[in-house]
Amino acid sequence: MNVCVIIPAAGSASRYLASGATRHKLDEDLAGREVLIRSIELFAKRDEVSSIVVAGPHGDDDHQAFRERYGHKLGFFGVTLCKGGKDYRYESVQAALAEVPEDSTHIAVHDAARPCATSRLIDRVFEAAARFDAVIPAVPVGDTIKRTEEAADAADEDPLDAILGSGGKSNESFSRVSGTLDRTGLVAVQTPQIFKRDLLIRAYSQPDLASTDDAGLVENLGEAVMVVKGERRNIKITTAEDLELARAFFGPVGGSRETHKRF
Ligand code: C5P
Repeated sequence: MNVCVIIPAAGSASRYLASGATRHKLDEDLAGREVLIRSIELFAKRDEVSSIVVAGPHGDDDHQAFRERYGHKLGFFGVTLCKGGKDYRYESVQAALAEVPEDSTHIAVHDAARPCATSRLIDRVFEAAARFDAVIPAVPVGDTIKRTEEAADAADEDPLDAILGSGGKSNESFSRVSGTLDRTGLVAVQTPQIFKRDLLIRAYSQPDLASTDDAGLVENLGEAVMVVKGERRNIKITTAEDLELARAFFGPVGGSRETHKRF
């Protein structure tokens, strides 16, 4: 197995910055290294991995700043850097596909914002890829899942307002429940997702690429996608609160190492 790993890292982190953070989530410190570098490290030393392609920011200025910040570190890991997509993750993966070496047998895609995956998870996903053409990790949905919609008029119904008048309005926004899903069989999907090279290239040759993960495009071809057990700790850092969680998972000096190997 000769795997090329694509790491889409071109997102603007708008939800992260809106959650109160002051810098891009991939630049945040995670036990002594940037989130982006932690995600690359998950693959850099694996025997099956022969190349890594990172899709960085799309805009010229942002891309230049990214190159200045990470260029030497990416060089150290032998990573190829390309420009990602402006708006959508799938644009970034599509751009990175052009850099995949001819001799790769498989392509894995891993979100730059998921630095907490363990080597056990990657073992599981890669081992299954020896048997199946498309493999993704996922965890069963534990919470009840409801659909909600914006409730512009919720403030009018705020009982606090009735008592205190409009001066009692809090800044909190509300949404209204519009339905409850049956969670039987629902799973929350993670990365790394791995595919036979030709299958992923075929998936990305379709006219409609709108999908929030790569497996979705393989599903659209009518091909089977197999699921292996994911990890609760393999969170995607989306908000400032997620970074706190990631730091807790990692511990002060690299949480994916077994305790007896830390010193
Ligand atoms: O936006 P979301 O959290 O789903 O992004 C998942 C991953 O895709 C992140 O690592 C992000 O940097 C990347 N992404 C990208 N290009 C975009 C949007 C997101 O590479 N245009």
